[in-house]
Amino acid sequence: AKTRHFKWEVEYMHWSPDGPESVVMGINGQFPGPTIRARAGDTVHVELTNKLHTEGVVIHWHGIRQKGTPWADGTASISQCATNPGETFVYRFKVDRAGTYFYHGHYGMQRSAGLYGSLIVDVAEGEKEPFHYDGEFNILLSDWWHKSSHEQEVDLSSNPMRWIGEPQTLLINGRGQFNCSLAARFSSSSTANECRLRGNEQYAPQILRVQPNKTYRLRIASSTALASLNLAIGKHKLVVVEADGNYLRPFSVDNIDIYSGESYSVLFTTNQDPSNNYWISTNVRGREPKTPPGLTILNYSPTSASKLPNSPPPVSPRWDDYGSSKAFSNKILALTGTPKPPTTSDRRIVLLNTQNFMDGHTKWAINNVSLVLPATPYLGSIRFGLSNAFDKKRPPDNFKHDYDVMKPAPNQNTTSGNGVYVLKFNTTVDVILQNANALKANVSEIHPWHLHGHDFWILGYGEGKFTESDVSKFNLKNPPYRNTAVIFPYGWTALRFVADNPGVWAFHCHIEPHLHMGMGVVFAEGVRRVKRIPNEALACGLTGKLLMNNVHK
Ligand code: C2O
Ligand code: CU
Repeated sequence: AKTRHFKWEVEYMHWSPDGPESVVMGINGQFPGPTIRARAGDTVHVELTNKLHTEGVVIHWHGIRQKGTPWADGTASISQCATNPGETFVYRFKVDRAGTYFYHGHYGMQRSAGLYGSLIVDVAEGEKEPFHYDGEFNILLSDWWHKSSHEQEVDLSSNPMRWIGEPQTLLINGRGQFNCSLAARFSSSSTANECRLRGNEQYAPQILRVQPNKTYRLRIASSTALASLNLAIGKHKLVVVEADGNYLRPFSVDNIDIYSGESYSVLFTTNQDPSNNYWISTNVRGREPKTPPGLTILNYSPTSASKLPNSPPPVSPRWDDYGSSKAFSNKILALTGTPKPPTTSDRRIVLLNTQNFMDGHTKWAINNVSLVLPATPYLGSIRFGLSNAFDKKRPPDNFKHDYDVMKPAPNQNTTSGNGVYVLKFNTTVDVILQNANALKANVSEIHPWHLHGHDFWILGYGEGKFTESDVSKFNLKNPPYRNTAVIFPYGWTALRFVADNPGVWAFHCHIEPHLHMGMGVVFAEGVRRVKRIPNEALACGLTGKLLMNNVHK
């Protein structure tokens, strides 16, 4: 195993992700940030210097479990103090398992500002993947607004809240087209004008060049701030083989759903007419789309890359066709050999997801607590017993049994807090994510929940309110092992994980504005076992004072 060294500088820079010039958060002058490629068992060492001038920064390695290095998880207020302008933080952690991952900012709404990139882990030297392919591509999906993330932040926190709306553009590897469409000629609306691209523009699509009659692996991860997506390749079947770094029982589909925080590998075979090119397209799901599809081209060699496909981009299921999304989710099952869940759990935490008001501000709350992160990161404050650093009251394990999840709440007010779910080390925990009606009648949204520091088994999905009798329907045989799971409108999702990773871990909706509006909880487990937290992770709030006092003693 090797150590892979990277020296990164994060800075704002001018960039044109979709045509018009914007300001994006880049790394070493690149957007998206550089791709990290390593092998299972390697150590990744990133020296991250903050060149932002006026704000702190952290980077989270999404899907990497950080066993033994909880301070390298890159969550501001949770695992570390944000790194100040001009300062450097060293992230050093092991990538213990092959898979498709990504990284992103985890402070304020820096992910929305464009702070993200891919992290690909290949199998260890001499090991083989359980499937064959001749070549591979990697695409990172995101969505883009012309309003800065700072303005979005102010909009969301204002009274009354101003919703950020749908993204202007869907990006594929940081590239999309706002002023024009690659598929204008197939569009019925006369307003769409054809892109005239030379190919060297920052917003020109990255074309995937293939040879006929080969099998390719397409790695796909979604770092979107808001959009749930559906991805298809015109006329090509997709065989899904990996999700969030775990192998799946392969299954074949025409298109896949991918929610923010998820990753997949799909295999496709280039068995179509090689004198044509084909669309790769993404479309919005679960919200009425006001954003054109994200597009790029699958280019069969030796056909010219500038030849447009001869038919329109593939159609995705209707945005509100949740039946097709549920059918897709239910096809996702673990490949034999994936770790199996313990057959029983020690604790069940039921988390009701609601949209609320707090003094006129719109919030999201979990069991009626809207998360507001503390000034002192939990990892340090819990490790050193600084119990004044956050709410001493533990958040509730359940909600009122007579709460009607199908209707707007009679009392829509909530409270904020930053208490912690303390999990007994090495115990098995079930989490039931319970969706509900939002503020408006007949509205319930999709929320992709992501857990730091672990994978969990998705034991099942259900409609309406979770009841005790649903336990008997849990899939304990081959549940997918993942780090992100969606809850469907008015439904519930059951998860199980083992609290075996000493540290403090965020568990939250991966929709950036939702997290910003309080949609998350914090788990702490085995924190007393954590050794040697680097001082740089502690140099703020009450742990910062503690360090100072020790120096002056
Ligand atoms: Cu990718 Cu806490 O998030
Ligand atoms: Cu959400």
